[in-house]
Order: sequence, then structure tokens, then C-alpha cells
Amino acid sequence: PTPTAGPSSPFVISPNLPPLPQVPGTDPERCVLDAFRTAIAKRVADALPPLTVEQAYTGVDYGKKGVDFTVALPRFRLPGKVDELAKKVLNQFQPDEWIESVVHDKAFLHFTLNTTTLIRQVLDQVHALTHATPSGQPEYGTNTSGEGKRVIVEYSSPNIAKQFHVGHLRSTIIGAFIANLYKACGWEVINMNYLGDWGTQFGLIAVGFNKYGSREALEKNAIKHLFEVYVKINKDAEADPEVKSQAAAFFKRMEEGDEEALADWRVWRELSVRKYEEEYARLNVHFEVYTGESQVGKESQDMALKRLEEMGLIDESQGAKLVNLEQWKLGKAVVRKKDGTSIYLTRDIGGAIERYEKYKFDKMIYVVSSQQDLHLAQFFKVLKLMDFPWAERLEHVNYGLVQGMSTRKGTVVFLDEIIREAGSVMHEQMRKNEEKYKNIEEPEATAQEIGITGVKIQDMAAKRINNYTFNWERMLSFEGDTGPYLQYAHVRISSISRKNPELLPLPAPAKIDTTLLTEPAAREIVLLLGSYPDVVKTALRTHEPSGVVTFAYRLAHAISSAWETVIVKGESDVEKARARMWMYLCARDVLGAAMRLLSLKPLERM
Ligand code: ARG
Repeated sequence: PTPTAGPSSPFVISPNLPPLPQVPGTDPERCVLDAFRTAIAKRVADALPPLTVEQAYTGVDYGKKGVDFTVALPRFRLPGKVDELAKKVLNQFQPDEWIESVVHDKAFLHFTLNTTTLIRQVLDQVHALTHATPSGQPEYGTNTSGEGKRVIVEYSSPNIAKQFHVGHLRSTIIGAFIANLYKACGWEVINMNYLGDWGTQFGLIAVGFNKYGSREALEKNAIKHLFEVYVKINKDAEADPEVKSQAAAFFKRMEEGDEEALADWRVWRELSVRKYEEEYARLNVHFEVYTGESQVGKESQDMALKRLEEMGLIDESQGAKLVNLEQWKLGKAVVRKKDGTSIYLTRDIGGAIERYEKYKFDKMIYVVSSQQDLHLAQFFKVLKLMDFPWAERLEHVNYGLVQGMSTRKGTVVFLDEIIREAGSVMHEQMRKNEEKYKNIEEPEATAQEIGITGVKIQDMAAKRINNYTFNWERMLSFEGDTGPYLQYAHVRISSISRKNPELLPLPAPAKIDTTLLTEPAAREIVLLLGSYPDVVKTALRTHEPSGVVTFAYRLAHAISSAWETVIVKGESDVEKARARMWMYLCARDVLGAAMRLLSLKPLERM
């Protein structure tokens, strides 16, 4: 399960530390670096009246390489020269258990946190919020900013009987991340799949099914069979206009609610959803709601058109109805075709109205390719023009194109082909290293999971809007910043308990002497662990998975550089070995949390 914040934190800051003011919007019980930032803000504010601690707090940022936190003095717009201001802070500075030192560098003040406190508090917090929560679920990194709020995340949304293309794959991967992210920030999340399950193509499939359909093949793999039927009958329709008109007549019956005409369609939809559910499960993706274009009521679409008409927003053009959005550079949005049939845009308008009535969401996010930017902008705009106050709560999370997704057999048409190919390419990759391969317990299942990780990480590694080229070789390599590398890092760090049974069980945290963690490499790991709650908050603001991926890489690298020097096995001082082991286990917990947020299943062994 992906983490979500509980009602109260099982972690409290040590009462023996110097007291700090409470800055609104901070939550040191879930992000202990908030306390360190407050300690810095207090020093700056005390030295530079009338600056308040709250104001100063907003100016405390992570430092560049090797610096814990930096304050850029000019941003406070205080009277006086920057050097004078800096001198005031420096003159008053007293090190304490929060802050060790400050350095003045041009317009900046660089602060170093007290290492002993940093390590103790961060590791205690990670441990408590991972292993001592009332819910029994890991919570480190979560926050409560979304408490009491509900969000619908609509994503994946493939079209039944058509190709599952890479745009749907991206929507699935990014959407699952967005849903996990909101959950981690305390929101109630509804994962929604809006299937393309309506339209004239279903009339065509009905005609095609009579000719080419097989109940058996349908039961076996509905997605595949319907697509095959669709391809065949499409060819026929191109050659024979009679097929087209039969299809149109059939779809008309469907639109009119003719039960007989709908019976087969219902089965197709049901079986397709069932198949998709299995495939999503393998991707660690789950939907509470499967809806679709077919589910949008005629009434809500008619009501929307009526309202638009009453508001004088409709223009007629050659029998079609449209809303002129040119003053917002959004063109003309057709909301009703000449023949009166409903269209994609109108279904989205009606669908949003229905969803608001049903769910009273505080936010609704559509994870859809940037190819549909105009479509989403149009329907959001129309809803705003209709004066629905909740139209402001709609958000489009978009993403760029992917080139060249294919298997060795050719172009990808189905989701299960991608999943299978990821597993088999990865399996071959693993076999190249025979020594290692022999020790893998369940090579196929492991290859499958690592393969999926590779696909997902490649997809989320860069800014959403970037296009990229699908590359099995690169994404499935253990070298460089890849999904397999992250899984490997997690496996390696998980092995630490198995390899050092004599150190187990570890004593309670209070009995572990963290002052023995004196290496800079250890401090670096701990500071990164401390920053994870901020990584989550930033991701919520930007809707970018790449920040979390980057964090996971940085943590994996930091662990890797500590591994050879900050050793556990072979360390003769048992107390020291235990402290190190505890730190690595905390790092494992945080790496695991970040991976789960990205919808991955962190592996314990490979
Ligand atoms: N089924 C659509 C497609 O494949 C995507 C649906 C996006 N969501 C929406 N509400 N329009 O293009």
C-alpha cells in the first residue's frame, strides 16, 4: 500500500533540545528539517528586526553542494547594505544544538546544521514514522495538507477495441504516481478510468462480430479479439459502403438505448475491463471507478447544451452548434454535430457535471497527453463560461510524446505485450551474467518486476512534457540511472540484515549510539533522508514525478558511496556496526517509500 498520513505523528522532537517558535505551515513532527529551518529563521529574524521569524523562514533554502541551508539576504528587501546585514547575523550567532555554524558569502549566509542533532532526529523520525505508526503503515514523507479534501484522478482511459498506445501507457504511469502523491498528502483519492467505450466504432464492431467474432476468443482475451474484429471489419467497410451504413444504423440503435443492440456491447466492455484489471494489477495500478464515455448521460449533455444556449454562448454553423472561444485563442468548439449525435467534447462537459454532482470533488485531475491540450482547455473553458464555480478545480496534467515503442515482433498494440516484452528483455539481460543469475530465486518473476520498473522509471525520469524515445536497452540496463539500478540498490541495502544476523535484533532506537556515525558519507545520507518530506511536497506542487526519481537516484548514489567505507560487516566495534546498520535500514525505508510513491514494488532480493 502507498503511504498516507495518520491523524497524529508518533514522533516528537527531543524535549532536551533548545525550544523553537512554531512557524505556521510547518510540521516538524513529520519533517524534522522544518525545525532546523525554524532555528535558522529565528537567528536571522532576531538579528534583523523588524523581520519576523515567519518572513525569515520563507528565505531559508537548501544550499548548493556541501552546504546544508542558505539564506539569500536581498530577498528580504531590508534597508541597509547586504554586508552590514550579514555582519549583524554573524555577530549575534551562537552555535547551539540546532545550528553549528554560519558563513558569510557575498549576498548569502550558509548555515551548517548540528551533526549530532541532525542524525539523531532524522533517523528517529524515519524510524518512528515507518515502524511505529498507529496504523502500522509506513508514513514517513507523508503530510496532512490535503486532509478532508477529495480528488478525482482520471488516467489511463484506453479505448476499447482500439490500440493501447504509448500515450495511454504514459497516462497510466504518471496517473498512478499522481494518485499516490495526493494520497501521501492526506487527500482522499478516487482513481478513475474513463474508457473510450462509445462511438460509431461500436456499430462497426457489432457488424464485424457477426462475421468474424468468436465467443471463445472473446472469453480468452477480449481486448485482443475485439481489436482483431475491428481491424477486419474496418477493411471491409473501406471497400463496401453498405457495411458502414449498417454500422451507423446499429450505433443509432445503441444510442437510442435499444437493449438488444446493447447486449453484446455490455459483454465486450465487461470482459475488456476484466482483462485490463489484471494487467493494471501487474503494474501495481488500481482503479476505484471504471467509467467511460458510454456512462455520460444524455440528460446531462442536453442540459449543458440548453444552458449554453440560454446563456447565449452557442453559435450555429451549417447545422452544427459551437461555442466561440476565439477570444481566448481556443478556436471554435463544436458541441453538437449536424446529425445531432453527441461528441467527445460534449461528453466530457456532461461527464464533469455529473462527476461534480456525484463526488463533490475539491479537485479533479485529467492525466492526458499534450496532444489533447486544446480539447481540455476548451472543455474547461466552456464549463467556466457556464459559471460552474467548481470549474476552477479542474486541472490537466499533460505529457509529451514517445517515439518508437515496439517489441521485437513489431509495433505494440496491447498493454500485455509491453508487460511481457519488459519481462523477457530483462530476463535475457539478467542471463548474460550467469554467476548472478544462478542465485536468483524466481528469475522470471524478478525479471518481470525489474522490467516494469525500467519502463516506469524511463517514463518518469524527465519532465513530463519532454518527448523521449523508447529504448529497451537503455531502460533495462543495470548501469547508469535506470529502474534496474534502483531495484538493485534497494536489494543490496535490504541484504544487510541477512548478511549480519549476529547484530540482530537491533536495540531500540534510544539505545543505538548515533554519535558513532561520524563519516561525512553517513551525514550526507541522513540529510537526504531528512529532505524526503520536502521532495513529496514539491512534487505535489509541480505534478512532476521526475523530482522523486532524481531523489531516489541521489539517495542510491549516496548509499553506494558510503557502502565501501562506512562498513557493517567487518566492523569490529559492535556498537558502531549497529549504528551503521540502523542508518542503512532507515535509508532502505526511505528509498522504498520513494519507490512505492512511484508505483514501484521495491524488491528485497534478486
Ligand atoms: N480515451 C481517450 C483517448 O484515448 C482519452 C480520454 C481522456 N480523458 C478525457 N476525459 N477526455 O484519446
